[in-house]
Amino acid sequence: MYFPETRLRRLRRTEQLRKMVKETALSTNDLVYPLFAIHGDNVRKEVASMPGVFQLSIPNLVEEAKEAYGYGVPAVLLFGIPEGKDPLGTDAYSDDGIVQGAVSALKKELPDLVVITDVCMCEYTDHGHCGVLDDSGSVDNDATLDLLAKSACSHVRAGADMVAPSDMMDGRVMAIRDALDEEGFHHIPIMSYAAKYASAFYGPFRDAAESTPQFGDRRSYQMDPPNVREAIREVSLDVEEGADIVMVKPALAYLDVISIVKDRFDVPVAAYNVSGEYSLVKAAALKGWVDEERIVMEIITGIKRAGADLIITYFAKDVARALGGS
Ligand code: PBG
Repeated sequence: MYFPETRLRRLRRTEQLRKMVKETALSTNDLVYPLFAIHGDNVRKEVASMPGVFQLSIPNLVEEAKEAYGYGVPAVLLFGIPEGKDPLGTDAYSDDGIVQGAVSALKKELPDLVVITDVCMCEYTDHGHCGVLDDSGSVDNDATLDLLAKSACSHVRAGADMVAPSDMMDGRVMAIRDALDEEGFHHIPIMSYAAKYASAFYGPFRDAAESTPQFGDRRSYQMDPPNVREAIREVSLDVEEGADIVMVKPALAYLDVISIVKDRFDVPVAAYNVSGEYSLVKAAALKGWVDEERIVMEIITGIKRAGADLIITYFAKDVARALGGS
């Protein structure tokens, strides 16, 4: 008797055979580790909705980055929690702001670590929106562009290796590219949050970054989840404007978007495995309902299989450790 289906099982018989035919291999080089910088000394405050993720004062943040780098994680993505907030998000572009301080401390201790900074206004504005408001209370696109460009330049002056605008204003990649070039930072790449959806999966992050909007929501600037052709337009505009890496965010509910962006564009594609995706796994693991390590590796492999070249994840340290980083 001939069972055609047994043909596929031949190469699954042993661990060695499975390794030989593995189609997707994760590498520590794919990982970016997001970190939250806060003022103070010796602060390591766990985010309630993200067990294992901390708001870190600068020396603690450097230690955390060192540990991740030791496991082989090549890059971090920095967010800042400023001391004060105001309508114009002044701390976002102040040369002695929290992110600027964290960048220079990191580059001093770990010169080879790739330091990427998130460029956005929402952690710095008292209303919590990603831009400044006009008289009617809506986010003013063009007035925000200048502030984003100023923020990006101040991050790079502090030593950032790459900037990552996450605000979703139209035209911000070009505004940032122009401003960087004008300051002589031609060599600094931009990773744009190109297809960023208005997602409930950002909930825990807003606890971590203290950036919940004080009124309304972000649907007038972030993308509507049902749309994918619009994501292609977002990505093509960002690439035209000078984005060096394009990001899809969140990852899990948008694996189709990652896959289409990878097919259509020839720049590296990043995917952000966001806070809500992290917290769901953590909560189930803490309950003992799932095997955390296996679930994490399966998720990160799935994101890579969909087409992501880079994966931004709060699990970066765990994944690197599981991959055998020393
Ligand atoms: C800032 C920003 C957000 C995230 C990254 N940059 C929050 C938001 O847009 O509300 C979310 C990251 C995460 O959920 O892990 N605009």
